[in-house]
Amino acid sequence: MHIHRYERWWLGFGVGMLLVFLVLLAIAAFSSDINPPSGLGQIDPTKVAQTAPFDHPGLRKLPNGAYEAYYVAHVFAFEPARLTIPVGAKVTFYVTSSDVVHGFFIPYTDVNMMAIPGWVNQETHTFSTPGHYLLICNEYCGIGHQDMFAKIEVR
Ligand code: CUA
Repeated sequence: MHIHRYERWWLGFGVGMLLVFLVLLAIAAFSSDINPPSGLGQIDPTKVAQTAPFDHPGLRKLPNGAYEAYYVAHVFAFEPARLTIPVGAKVTFYVTSSDVVHGFFIPYTDVNMMAIPGWVNQETHTFSTPGHYLLICNEYCGIGHQDMFAKIEVR
């Protein structure tokens, strides 16, 4: 098969750009320490309701003054459905799913992760602005996906 010289150059350019982007992506990811949501640990998704601390989802205050919030995602809700957080609290959210993959997104914060059955993910945010926040599922999870949300009040 004959490939014209210009065609070969153009193919080479295309493949070269793919490699350049791949290398740039790797450099950016490693230099900024960008990772997929941390897989903290594994959990049996069929026993979430019996496994501490997810058997009692909610907010806990740590001795150092920070907070931990444990959430379970399932079709089509989050537990707890409502949470009150003191203004200024630094909260680490831990989330897992007891059925399918869900999203865990709190708009206007940097909390945006996936709730994956079998895994525990975490992200931390400091709530310095009082108000009502929504926690929404941003991964399509089924027929009731658009109704899957919870409320967080910071006061
Ligand atoms: Cu849960 Cu979409």
